[in-house]
Amino acid sequence: MKSRVGSQGSLEEGKDSVTKVVTQYKPLSIRLLQFLLLFLGIGIVFSLLSMCMVRYSVMQNVIPMVQSRFQPCFQQLSLESWIRPPSSLLHSMNDTQLFWRASIVPQIKEYPFNRTRKIAFMFLTRGPIPLAPLWERFFKGNEKLYSIYIHSLPSYKPDFPPSSVFQGRQVPSQEAKWGRMSMCDAERRLLANALLDISNEWFILLSEACIPLHNFKAIYHYISKSRYSFMGAVDEPGPFGRGRYNPNMAPEVNITEWRKGSQWFEVNRKLAVDIVKDEVYHPKFEQFCRPACYVDEHYFPTMLTIESPRLLANRTLTWVDWSRGGAHPATFGKADINDQFFKRISESPTCVYNNQPTSLCYLFARKFAPSALGPLLEHSTKFLGF
Ligand SMILES: *[C@@H]1O[C@H](CO)[C@@H](O)[C@H](O)[C@H]1NC(C)=O
Ligand SMILES: *[C@@H]1O[C@H](CO)[C@@H](O)[C@H](O)[C@H]1NC(C)=O
Ligand SMILES: *[C@@H]1O[C@H](CO)[C@@H](O)[C@H](O)[C@H]1NC(C)=O
Ligand SMILES: *[C@@H]1O[C@H](CO)[C@@H](O)[C@H](O)[C@H]1NC(C)=O
Repeated sequence: MKSRVGSQGSLEEGKDSVTKVVTQYKPLSIRLLQFLLLFLGIGIVFSLLSMCMVRYSVMQNVIPMVQSRFQPCFQQLSLESWIRPPSSLLHSMNDTQLFWRASIVPQIKEYPFNRTRKIAFMFLTRGPIPLAPLWERFFKGNEKLYSIYIHSLPSYKPDFPPSSVFQGRQVPSQEAKWGRMSMCDAERRLLANALLDISNEWFILLSEACIPLHNFKAIYHYISKSRYSFMGAVDEPGPFGRGRYNPNMAPEVNITEWRKGSQWFEVNRKLAVDIVKDEVYHPKFEQFCRPACYVDEHYFPTMLTIESPRLLANRTLTWVDWSRGGAHPATFGKADINDQFFKRISESPTCVYNNQPTSLCYLFARKFAPSALGPLLEHSTKFLGF
């Protein structure tokens, strides 16, 4: 009996100790489960939140900090990331890499988004742009329709105020010598940088001595409605035209396609790509067109006459005065800015626009000294229409 009780007791004891152990573990495992669930919940909430934030920041193109923190985990390719213009014009590409990148062209003609076509104003300068205040007035109110690029001497440190349209528009530059291939290379560099913005449809080369002759709306209309690009290209007999041709350029370049034209051009996107991607004519001109062959007057006009003659208007949009003779055109200062001067420009001989004769032939003019700025600003409404 005793032993039974004893054994029972010991059994009870054993039971007891077992239940004791069970009750000891029970609260622990529930707590563990609660912890796990809590972590799981936090995890789900957090990942949902961050996915939403990534999507939000990609769509809204804001909060770059959030974007850069989360995108490596949730990388999403979007059309937006391909068509958005580069946020900074600075880059680490050399010309080989830049030209390659800039020559990439979509093979489907129709854009699957609403593309607002812009004019790229490309300023080829030594340093400062003294007539900047006039240009600022010209651009004002047309922010969606243009972009600006500046190529200057690499040593030049720009100091445009933060509110200026020229601020931060400097492209990585190299020295360009007048009449040498380095000048054409600077122009190609400007084109290539401007091509990186897919919205740029027309590309105009200007200098710091250029002014617009009409308001923005008139210039945009003239260029966007033109069937041709305004690259000066004439077949000029005599020593300063055909006389500069070197037969070593054949068969890539024959004398019949040899052209001369003003350095200051306007080209559309197709021609800009043609210029940037060129590997056929560049070596020929570099080797066989050296002073007294001024390559910036021949390379693009000749090359495009061979490649795309039907797209060229064969005239420039930039008025210049060679009447005083010499190697450089006339420069105009304070005393020149008057009614007769602008009358003289508008009364230039007629030209052809979309196969029709017109008296409106020039949209820009050069060369203007810094002293011209004052009177130009004072009378811009009367003389220039803005
Ligand atoms: C640019 O860099 C690439 C790779 O380093 C090189 O092959 C090419 O020759 C460089 N181009 C120029 C113009 O320096
Ligand atoms: C572009 O805009 C037009 C009208 O403004 C609209 O009908 C069309 O759906 C838009 N297309 C795209 C791809 O956003
Ligand atoms: C130049 O002339 C040669 C010989 O007549 C011809 O083979 C070549 O295609 C011509 N080049 C161009 C660019 O027309
Ligand atoms: C420009 O000149 C080329 C030949 O050099 C010609 O084919 C083209 O039709 C000319 N453009 C215009 C608008 O006349």
